[in-house]
Amino acid sequence: MAIEIELDLNPAVELSQIGMSETHGEDSPYFAGWKAYDEDPYNETTNLSGVIQMGLAENQVSFDLVEEYLEQNSDVLQANSSGFREDALFQDYHGLLSFRTAMAGFMEQIRGGRARFDPNRVVLTAGATAANELLTFILANPGDALLVPTPYYPGFDRDLRWRTGVKIVPIHCDSSNNFQITPKSLEAAYNNAIAMNLKVRGVLITNPSNPLGATIQRSTIEEILDFVTRKNIHLVSDEIYSGSVFSSAEFISVAEVLASRGYKDAERVHIVYSLSKDLGLPGFRVGTIYSYNDKVVTTARRMSSFTLISSQTQRFLASMLSNRKFTEKYIKMNRDRLKKRYEMIIEGLRTAGIECLNGNAGLFCWMNLSPLLKDKKTNTAGEIELWKRILKAVKLNISPGSSCHCSEPGWFRVCFANMSEHTLHVALERILCFVEKLRKEDEAN
Ligand SMILES: Cc1ncc(COP(=O)(O)O)c(C=O)c1O
Repeated sequence: MAIEIELDLNPAVELSQIGMSETHGEDSPYFAGWKAYDEDPYNETTNLSGVIQMGLAENQVSFDLVEEYLEQNSDVLQANSSGFREDALFQDYHGLLSFRTAMAGFMEQIRGGRARFDPNRVVLTAGATAANELLTFILANPGDALLVPTPYYPGFDRDLRWRTGVKIVPIHCDSSNNFQITPKSLEAAYNNAIAMNLKVRGVLITNPSNPLGATIQRSTIEEILDFVTRKNIHLVSDEIYSGSVFSSAEFISVAEVLASRGYKDAERVHIVYSLSKDLGLPGFRVGTIYSYNDKVVTTARRMSSFTLISSQTQRFLASMLSNRKFTEKYIKMNRDRLKKRYEMIIEGLRTAGIECLNGNAGLFCWMNLSPLLKDKKTNTAGEIELWKRILKAVKLNISPGSSCHCSEPGWFRVCFANMSEHTLHVALERILCFVEKLRKEDEAN
C-alpha cells in the first residue's frame, strides 16, 4: 500500500544500509497512483468525481462464490474447543499437511489435471511476495543477478532486490513479437549482465504475465529451460495467475513441460504460487514455493519461519480447497467472469479507438496509448505526462509501462476486476470522452 509517513531523509540516529536503501521500489508512478486514489476514491453513490482505481490487480469478481461457500459451511470458521487449542499452539514451519495436500490438489486442478504436485514439496509462505524474496535469498548472493523479462510486475523491484541485495537485469521484450521472450533476448540479457561483471543466478518469468495478461507459449518455456540448463542457472516461474486464465487449455505450466521431459534437469526449476489473485484473497497472505530441488525445499522451509501462514487460515483453506464441488464451480465461474470482464473492457476501449495486446489471462489488459503521445518517438517523459493527465483530469489511476520497465513508451496496464461492472462502464466512458477531447485538440492545432 502507499506510504503514509513522510520520511525524514536525514534521521539523527543512524539506520542500517538496508533501512536507508532506495531499492524499496516505491518511488514509482505505480505507487504514486495508489496514493492519488486513496486521497479521493471514486464511490458509486458518494463520490462520483473521484479517482477510479485501475492500478490494482485485485480479483473481486467471485467474492459471492466464497461467501456462498461460507454460508453453507459456517462450521469451518467456528473454533470448537479442541480445534482452537490445536490451532493456537500450532507453529510448525512445515504447515498443516491437510493444507499442503489441499493446496497441491488445487494447483493441479487449475492446470486442468495436466501436472502433479507432491504435498511434501509444497513450502508455505506469506504470499508470493515472500515466496519470491525467499527464493532469491536461496538462489543468489548479494550483488548477483536475476534476468527478468520486461515489462514486469513493479513489485519485483522491491521483492527481488531490496533486502537480498540482488540485481535485476532486464530481458527486453517488445511489441514487434507481442512481447514474447526469445533466445536472442535471453542471450543479450545474459551478456549484458556479464559485461557489468554480474554473476547470473537465474531467470524469473511470470506466466501468465503481469502486466501483459497473456500466457507464455510451450515452445518459449522449452527455449527458456534449454537456456537455463546450458548456462547452469535456475528458473523461477511465478504462476500466481495460473487459475485466472480464461481457458485452462491455454495455460502451459513449467510443471507440465518438465513432466513431458521426464523431469530432466528439474532441480533447477522452482514454481511460485499464491491465492491472492485466483481466489481474490491477498489479505490472507497465502503463498507457496514448489521446488523440484530437495535442498531448496529444505532451506526454503526453514526460512519460511520468517513468513508463516497463520494456522487458523490454513485450517479454513484446507477445508475449502479440498471441497471438490466448490473448487470446480469456483474455477469455472471465475474464469468465465474474468473473460467476460476482459471482453467488456477490450470492446469499450476499441470503441474509443484504443487497441490492447491480445490477452487470455489475468486481471488487467495491456493498453497501447502510443498513438496519443505527442512526440511519437518520445521516451518515458511523454508517457508520464500522459499518465499524469489521465490521473488528474480523467481521474483514472492506470499504471504506465515505464513503471513495469517497458522499453517502449505508450503502454499502460489497466486493471478491470477490482470494481463493479457499473464502475468499469464509468471508467470506459471517461476514457472515451478523453480521447475525443484529445482528437479535437489535435484538429484545432
Ligand atoms: C507477478 C506477481 N507476483 C507476486 C505478486 C505478489 O502477490 P502476493 O499478494 O501473493 O504477495 C503479485 C501481485 O500483484 C504479482 O502480480
